[in-house]
Amino acid sequence: MIKHVNHYFASITVATLLIGHTLSCSAQENAFHPGQLWPDDNGVHINAHGGGILYQKGKYYWFGEHKIEGGAGNRAMVGVHCYSSKDLYNWKDEGIALAVSPDTTNDIAKGCILERPKVIYNKKTKKYVMWFHLELRGKSYSAARAGLATADKVNGPYTFIRSYRPDAGFMPVYPAGTPDSDKVNCNHPKNKSEGFFCRDLPGGQMSRDMNLFVDDDGKAYHIFSAEENFTLDIAELNADYTGHTGKFTRVYAGHQTEAPAIFKRNGIYYLVGSGTTGWAPNPARWFSAPSIWGPWTYHCNPCQGDGAQITFGGQSTYVLPVAGKKDAFIFMADKWMPKNAIDGRYLWLPIEFKGDDIVIRWKDSWTLNDFKN
Ligand code: GAL
Repeated sequence: MIKHVNHYFASITVATLLIGHTLSCSAQENAFHPGQLWPDDNGVHINAHGGGILYQKGKYYWFGEHKIEGGAGNRAMVGVHCYSSKDLYNWKDEGIALAVSPDTTNDIAKGCILERPKVIYNKKTKKYVMWFHLELRGKSYSAARAGLATADKVNGPYTFIRSYRPDAGFMPVYPAGTPDSDKVNCNHPKNKSEGFFCRDLPGGQMSRDMNLFVDDDGKAYHIFSAEENFTLDIAELNADYTGHTGKFTRVYAGHQTEAPAIFKRNGIYYLVGSGTTGWAPNPARWFSAPSIWGPWTYHCNPCQGDGAQITFGGQSTYVLPVAGKKDAFIFMADKWMPKNAIDGRYLWLPIEFKGDDIVIRWKDSWTLNDFKN
């Protein structure tokens, strides 16, 4: 694991930022404070944006984009940062799990865009498998690829394997009963998003904002914004989790959803996402389905109260099931700071269930005891 690649300057500034925060470096956290600075075990604001969490053997591992100061921090200058925690409040810096490459011809060359990394564990191969959204250096957001890296240890080092656009040559699957007239026919694309789908059919679908989900049966899925962000694809990964099988479905086609976060409760699949306004916040949206393959029902904005129309200033990145607690799911969002990327904040909020519906409300501060049981 590579520790603290460019931390010197980052630490100084964030340490400065920490002045005024009520906690000293060594203080134990015992609550979540959405939107505030969140010091790690070194007293440095956690640097794991667009992140996701893997729970293993009593510990949570948080992986996210390591950002640097200024606008340059919107590109990947360092890599994917990992932290670990037993209680979700206090996080230990585990260092850089996947480092960008100094080789400018490498897919993950320093200065590329590497976003929303997520890690899952494959029981069969005993490998940790990381997928992320990759944009090639100097090519803005045009590559729209899925990137893959694997490791033998949870905190790395992860080895970059490849990047590509998924599901080349494959047509989507549909929930039973879908009329043929609603299916994509590349001889006659019906709208803009189908046009993008058909354009990308030979080379693979665009893959931008993304997440991973492992179902109870061990099958894993990659969820990503495809078709110029017009449609979300949910795609099956192979048994090793290192490739796509070609089986996928299109969700909320043509309506532009980003930032997908998926979870399951009582046999129902839930998906929370955002609109597409770049770093600026917009209203969230949620969907539910009886099967990962749909049909997915759209349900508007799960957020309620002041700030609900802009997801309290954040954008979804992950929904974390709290280990050992029934019905305890944490909505994780990023409050992006594109002008000084390293200062991005984390909005973690509890998901409330009203029957099978979900509600997310702002809280200045809260604890796991706020979950009902
Ligand atoms: C957001 C997206 C982020 C990042 C950003 C760039 O909409 O969710 O992950 O790609 O756009 O503007």
